[in-house]
Amino acid sequence: MAESMEGLKRTHRCGELTKANAGETVTVMGWVQKNRNKGGLVFVDVRDRSGIIQIVFEEGKSEESLLEKAGKLRSEYVVAVVGKVEERSGAVNANLKTGEIEIIPEELRILSESETPPFPVEENSKTKEEVRLKYRYLDLRRPDMQRNLLMRSQVATLTRQFLAEEGFLEIETPILIGSTPEGARDYLVPSRIHQGHFYALPQSPQLFKQLLMCSGCDRYFQLAKCFRDEDLRADRQPEFTQIDMELSFVDVEDVLDVNERLLAKIFKEVLGVEVTLPIPRMTWQEAMDRYGSDKPDIRFGMELTDVTETVKDCEFVVFKGAIENGGSVRGINAKGQGAMPRKKIDKLVEFAKGYGAKGLAYAAIQEDGTVKSSFGKFMKEEEMAALIKAMDGQNGDLLLFAADKNKVVWDVLGALRLELARQMELLDKSDYRFLWVTEFPLLEWSEEENRFVAMHHPFTMPMEEDLEYIDSDPGRVRAKAYDIVLNGTELGGGSVRIFNPDIQNKMFEVLGFTPERAEEQFGFLLTAFKYGVPPHAGLAYGLDRLIMLMAKEDSIRDVIAFPKVKDASDLMTEAPTKVDEGQLEELGLEIRAKE
Ligand code: AMO
Ligand code: AMP
Repeated sequence: MAESMEGLKRTHRCGELTKANAGETVTVMGWVQKNRNKGGLVFVDVRDRSGIIQIVFEEGKSEESLLEKAGKLRSEYVVAVVGKVEERSGAVNANLKTGEIEIIPEELRILSESETPPFPVEENSKTKEEVRLKYRYLDLRRPDMQRNLLMRSQVATLTRQFLAEEGFLEIETPILIGSTPEGARDYLVPSRIHQGHFYALPQSPQLFKQLLMCSGCDRYFQLAKCFRDEDLRADRQPEFTQIDMELSFVDVEDVLDVNERLLAKIFKEVLGVEVTLPIPRMTWQEAMDRYGSDKPDIRFGMELTDVTETVKDCEFVVFKGAIENGGSVRGINAKGQGAMPRKKIDKLVEFAKGYGAKGLAYAAIQEDGTVKSSFGKFMKEEEMAALIKAMDGQNGDLLLFAADKNKVVWDVLGALRLELARQMELLDKSDYRFLWVTEFPLLEWSEEENRFVAMHHPFTMPMEEDLEYIDSDPGRVRAKAYDIVLNGTELGGGSVRIFNPDIQNKMFEVLGFTPERAEEQFGFLLTAFKYGVPPHAGLAYGLDRLIMLMAKEDSIRDVIAFPKVKDASDLMTEAPTKVDEGQLEELGLEIRAKE
C-alpha cells in the first residue's frame, strides 16, 4: 500500500526541529521508530539520521481516518508527515533533542511498509554482530552507527580542507598494480588479456607517491583504499583507508609539524578536544625500555624497570639463566594489587605465556610488609629487599617479573601492563594521549627468512650518523622513521625516503636483494630516481583506526560502513563467492584442490 510523495517536499530533518519552530507547519519524512496506540491517542516516533520527533494523533484534533492509519504503522515503515509543531502538552522528554515539542499531523502518507526487522533499530544494540552485519543496511540506521559515519565524513572533509590549504594536491593512484614490497600478502587479480599474469591490489600507494614526488607534485595526499591479505583483528581489515601523504624538500620535522596541526584541527573541530602541541616524542629504544612496546599507551604509568643488575648475582636459575643467555630481567609494579588472589595471579601467568613467556615471577607485598613470592625461596632476604627497592615496591603492591631475551620480556610486560590497566580500569577513552615514536631500527632480523628485513620498507632512510654500521652491525642502524601513536594504537607511520642511489643499493644489498631482483621489483622507481629525484618524506594514517578511537569504539568494523569479518568474508553480500566456469575459462584459470 505504498503511497507516493507527490506534492510533498521535506522541510526539515526530524532532529532539527526545536521550540523555535512552534506554530510552523512542517513536513518530515523518515522511519517509524515506534507506535504507541493508547486508544483515541496514537504516539508515533519518526526517525531519520538527525534524530527522532514525536507525532501525536489525537481524537478530536486529527481526523478519524488519520488516527486509523496511524494505528496501522509498524516499526520501520517509511512515512511522510505534514503537521504543525507544538510545544508538548504532556511531559517533556529530556532524553530527546526534540523532547520539548511534538507534531500535530494534518497528513500522513505511508511511503513504504516494512516486514518485522530482524532486530530493533536502536542505540547500543545487544544484537549479535553477525546478525547486524548480515543486515548492515538496518544496522547503519542505528543512531550510534549514524554518528560514526557522520564523524568519518567530517574527518575526511576536514583533512581535505586542511591539506589543500597547506598546498597538497589530491591525486588518485591506481588500484590495479604490480606487487608492492610491503609486509603483508597481496590480493591478486588475474588478467584476462595477459593470461597467467596478475595485478595486485595496492597495500598502500607507496611507490606511486614517491613517483609523484619525482614528477614535481611537491605535496601529495589521498584518502587511499589499501588492501592487505593478513589475519584480521579488531584493528585490521583486509581493505582499509589511509590518509596518505608525501612531501618534497622536507625532513622529519616538517612532516611531524604539518601532521600535528592536522590532528589538532580534526580533534578540535570534531570532538572539541584541544591537542596540546607539540605532541611528545620518544625514541623507539626509550619506548621499548619504558613500556615494552613501540606503541606505548601513555595514559597511565606502570612502566617497566630493568632489574638485571640488581638480580644478576642471585641464585634463582630463571633469572640467572636469562641473563647468562644475553637477556634481561624486568618487572612492572601493579600498585595496590598486592592482595590479588592467587587464582587471578595464575591467570596473569597464563596471559604472559600467551605472549611467549616461559613463566612470570611475582612478589606480592602484603599490607603488613610480608612478601608472598613465587621465587622467594631462591633469594636471600637482602636480595629480595634490594629487588623490591629497585621496583619502588610499597606495602600492598604486586611486582611481576619476566626473564628472557629482551624481545620476549618487552612483549610480555608490554602486554601485561595493558591487561592490568584494563583490569584496574585505568583506561579512559576520553583521554587522548598522542605520541610520536621516532628513530625506529632500520632493519629487523627475521628468524623465518634468516635475514634482515626492512622494519618499515626498503626505501626508508637510515640516520646519517648510523650509516657507518650498516655492514658491521646492521641491526644497530636507526632509521628516519616515525609512528604516530594514540592511546596504545599505531595510528600511522612514515619515513624520510632514500633518494641517494648508493644508499639505496646498499640497502638492497643488506636486505639480500640481488641487483637483478631489485631491478625486477622496483626498476621503474630506481629508473625514475635517475632523472632528478627530490629529497622526500611521507606518512600514512589508518583512517579507520583514527575514527575508531575518536568514536570510542573497540573495533574498526564499527566505523566502516560495510566491513568484513574475521575470515575476510562479507556477511551481507557473501563475498568472496564462487564464479562461473565461463569466467574462469575466459581468464585461463582452473581451480585445483589444495594438496
Ligand atoms: P603502514 O604499513 O604503517 O605504512 O600503514 C599505515 C597505517 O595504516 C593503518 N593500517 C591498517 N588499518 C586497518 N587495517 C589494516 N589491515 C591496516 N594496515 C595498516 C595503520 C598504519 O599505521 N606506505 C606506508 C606509509 C609511509 O611510509 O608513508 C604504509 O603503508 O594505522
Ligand atoms: P619454577 O622454578 O619453574 O617453579 O619457577 C619459579 C617461578 O618463576 C614461577 O612463578 C614461574 O612462573 C616463574 N618463571 C619461570 N620462567 C620464568 C621467566 N622466564 N621469567 C619470569 N618468571 C619465570
